[in-house]
Amino acid sequence: MSLDRDLLTRSFDLVLERAPNLTERFYEILFERYPSLRPLFGGRVKPAQARMLREALAAVLAHLDDGAWLTETLGAMGARHVGYGVTDAMYAQVGDALIAAMAEAAGEDWSPEIEAAWIAAYGAVASLMQDGARRAVAA
Ligand code: HEM
Repeated sequence: MSLDRDLLTRSFDLVLERAPNLTERFYEILFERYPSLRPLFGGRVKPAQARMLREALAAVLAHLDDGAWLTETLGAMGARHVGYGVTDAMYAQVGDALIAAMAEAAGEDWSPEIEAAWIAAYGAVASLMQDGARRAVAA
């Protein structure tokens, strides 16, 4: 993926340092803006789920240059998401809440460049997950 690994990694580290509870805040924003998504998560988000999202993002950053890993891992993850009731349209909503949570945590250190890098990275991850979801449905 031709993404700005340094900018993504530095901004992710900064955000987690400022907001160790980033993922909890992400779910708060997600359910505030898109309350219809709440039932997918069984009502309440458990701490383990928050950790999974953070770890999944860190793993993606560590494998940005490994196209085979990304296609396989994210494709399989997207296929599992079909079973959670996730549709293509929901990816934009999750991306919106994730980037809003990160921008809030970074405060005045957030910038249009960082935002653009995250929109590109999230979009790439989402489309690999959606491809995997489509392969699973077609199989
Ligand atoms: C970059 C995009 C995303 C990433 C990295 C991500 C990551 C994860 C991970 C790591 C899990 C743990 C289970 C597994 O690996 O299969 C999970 C579960 C889940 N994700 Fe995602 N996800 C993403 C997008 C979405 C979207 C768009 C939705 C739609 C609302 C969603 C809803 C869920 C639900 C409902 C679960 C199951 C929770 C439960 O066990 O109750 N995810 N996600």
